[in-house]
Amino acid sequence: MVKNATYLILLSLIFTSCASKKYLMEDVKNFKKENHLSTSKDFMITSQGHYSSKAAKEVIDKGGNIIDAMAAISFVISVERPQSTGIGGGGFLLFYEKKTDTVHAFDFREKAPLRSDSKMYLDKSGNEIDRKSLDGIFAVGVPGLVKGVLEIHKKYGKLKRADVLKSAIDLARNGMPVYEELRRALKGREKVLCKYESSKKIFCPGGELLKEGEVLKQNDLANTLERISRFGEKDFYHGETMRKIVSTSKKYKGLLTRKDFRKYNVVNRRPISGTYKNLKIYSMSPPSSGGVHIIQILNILENTNLKKNGPYHPKSIHYVSSAMEMAFADRAAYLGDSDFVKVPLKGLTSKKYAKRLFDKIKENEAFKKEDISKGDAPAYESDHTTHFTIMDKEGNTVVSTQTINGWFGSGLVAEGTGIVLNNEMDDFSTKPGAMNLFGAVGSKQNLVAPEKRPLSSMSPTIVFKDGEVKLGVGTPSGTRILTCVMQTILNYFEYEKPLYEAVAMARYHHQWRPHQIRFDEASLSSSVVSELEEMGHKVKFKNLGCRIQAVAKEGDVITGVSDPRGEGKALGF
Ligand code: GLY
Repeated sequence: MVKNATYLILLSLIFTSCASKKYLMEDVKNFKKENHLSTSKDFMITSQGHYSSKAAKEVIDKGGNIIDAMAAISFVISVERPQSTGIGGGGFLLFYEKKTDTVHAFDFREKAPLRSDSKMYLDKSGNEIDRKSLDGIFAVGVPGLVKGVLEIHKKYGKLKRADVLKSAIDLARNGMPVYEELRRALKGREKVLCKYESSKKIFCPGGELLKEGEVLKQNDLANTLERISRFGEKDFYHGETMRKIVSTSKKYKGLLTRKDFRKYNVVNRRPISGTYKNLKIYSMSPPSSGGVHIIQILNILENTNLKKNGPYHPKSIHYVSSAMEMAFADRAAYLGDSDFVKVPLKGLTSKKYAKRLFDKIKENEAFKKEDISKGDAPAYESDHTTHFTIMDKEGNTVVSTQTINGWFGSGLVAEGTGIVLNNEMDDFSTKPGAMNLFGAVGSKQNLVAPEKRPLSSMSPTIVFKDGEVKLGVGTPSGTRILTCVMQTILNYFEYEKPLYEAVAMARYHHQWRPHQIRFDEASLSSSVVSELEEMGHKVKFKNLGCRIQAVAKEGDVITGVSDPRGEGKALGF
């Protein structure tokens, strides 16, 4: 009897402590700081890979500049994180050049093949063909990463191309142990990676998926990178590498042709910009939705006083998530590649429109599903892509988010190249109202068209205060990218948290569909959950998957934080 009573008390204690588990400021202190926090006076790199951050340091030690460091990271991270980025993919990059006081924005996102069309993922009855936009050759957009990185490097770098490619070639050739996240990604894509001979040879040798700790060597990729080192983009867009990719496409009756590669172009875009109180924010413009909605959400929130209640007060969460919800409804209706469709950027980022949206939020009541618009609840998906941030003592800053989309992209390696081909085509709407891998709803604005770029959420962002650069920030994780970046800005500037805490603090996300707020796991006290539910919010716990890489200039000191949830490295020197 006594034993039973003790057992019940114990159980209730465990239950109470779980139910009120907090993963807020107190728990931030329990995260490991080694590798994730660094300070320096001269140079700071934060990336999702140890080899990548170190390679960037090596080129700086050789006399390179921030752009040489950017090129080195881009190629090494392609080898180190074949599950989430690579030369078979694309990305966006913002570069704040102190000398000219200019923020440059580069778009090297994949483009739809010339032979693609808006119905390519539908059967004769107009239904989506299962996984056609996700697995195999039809999922592949024309890769832009090599051209993007090399063009930027040619214009602003100091070192030779061979100097910035050396570490990537060595890493691919010598190999590296499979780490936990890589193993998880391999497991998640086992079916497709062990199906194609060209992919199997690298990731599933002899039919057995590589295990954690086993060495992953990528010899074909090393040879491809060597060719790029010698011949530059000519190899990738006109030479041997292009021929090998096109021949793989032909083998599987895909759409890619030589002309697709010949016509691929990098775009120097005007970054999207806006203000929040005394901050000036620059981020990526369409075909990314990221910058537009970061600015839209902050514009809405400028109408309330978040600081008064603090970041985890139910009222703050209610206002922030309602603003997110309205922004995502607009994303679904208006966003697409602005080279092809009209995107009302001015309206979406105007303070007047934001005030109108703010006025719709009731103080103590969540929007009902039908209040904003109609739609069905999709499943959430995973946390791919990669991001790095670099800053030097002058304030020059590079933020770049790069991706092959889902884990291991299409799962198809172009034969004889070691290149994992992307599945970026899934970021298009397969038909109006359909959802992508990340559960994002799309409209006809984002339908496939030849040479169009699929809508993205990637949000490399730079924040200025009083005319001085203060923060470079970005993250992977699909649609959560923009809300994670936005919350880091709020945590650092509005709530005035130190950078490490601003990154480590629990985050949440509302993307209109599904009609719920998704919180980092175990991140909220039960009383806050109850209050939110009383307002009519649905609350779900599932990690958002963001891995913020942030660098802040704080007087003479540069602080770098690589999200402690991940396996990255902040490296100052
Ligand atoms: N593929 C993820 C994104 O571009 O947002």
